[in-house]
Amino acid sequence: MDLNKYLFKKRGIINEALDKYLPSENEYPQILHEAMRYSVLSSGKRLRPILTIATYETIGGKQEEVIPISCAIELIHTYSLIHDDLPSLDNDDYRRGKETCHRKYGEAIAILTGDALLTFGFKLISSSGFNPSLLIKTIDELSSAIGTRGMIGGQAVDVTTTEANPSVLQYIHTHKTGALICASVRIGAILAGCSTQELTHLTQYGECIGLAFQIVDDMMDERCDKKRGKRLTYPVVYGVKEAERRARELGNNAILQLEIFGGRAKILREIARFIVDRAYKGSS
Ligand code: IPE
Ligand code: IPE
Ligand code: MG
Ligand code: MG
Repeated sequence: MDLNKYLFKKRGIINEALDKYLPSENEYPQILHEAMRYSVLSSGKRLRPILTIATYETIGGKQEEVIPISCAIELIHTYSLIHDDLPSLDNDDYRRGKETCHRKYGEAIAILTGDALLTFGFKLISSSGFNPSLLIKTIDELSSAIGTRGMIGGQAVDVTTTEANPSVLQYIHTHKTGALICASVRIGAILAGCSTQELTHLTQYGECIGLAFQIVDDMMDERCDKKRGKRLTYPVVYGVKEAERRARELGNNAILQLEIFGGRAKILREIARFIVDRAYKGSS
């Protein structure tokens, strides 16, 4: 199957489910529900929920079962974007092709919208229908990936560091971006009942694509000539050519991890290629 068709189809399913789960904008307090829907129901790539579904299906699960948890991951990712764009962090005016949440609704509502999406993500997990022991594992995976030892740790170091130090750069990327991407893969695998050996390989796959994703994202920002001040990125520290080489190497390593799955991992292989190649195909 053509990956673009696959991604398009999965995005449609995820978008429909997100629309269904999110509170109506007519529900009080309307401004908050409107802002949640404004930020979530937009042109996001839905990479993380697609990874959860694709991994779940690779291990033999049925897509419908994992939709609520995949959507929870997307809600939490969207919260991280809203807060990342705030004036006190990256101070960005546009996200997903439209005004950022704080530009449209003001800073106070944007902060609260982020809080609301984070909380709603966990609410959605709790009512997702998996047995309690799998739910606890999912909550443990996700809260670790987005907490101080994961995404928020990475964000804190990102906004406070300017020194071009390769190990700090690696920390930032693997934490602010890599951790949630890797958790999206791991959660799909755990929920589908994968073996320990399968989880080890899928974790390495997730780590490789997570880091590659942020390297490529920085290369694309570089090309778009975004004015960001002194940000610590792979192209800044290593130069564009070396950053590209590393992204490609990570993509290849990710694919190597999938060998034990044979033909079942076709989509995960193609997603790894898509992550590395998107910089050259003009997709964002
Ligand atoms: C952007 O993530 C923020 C990073 C972690 C690099 P995406 O590029 O996945 O953003 P959307 O969800 O498609 O908007
Ligand atoms: C965003 O990283 C990471 C999180 C939201 C956790 P960036 O700040 O590098 O991503 P963009 O360029 O705003 O999408
Ligand atoms: Mg940032
Ligand atoms: Mg940013």
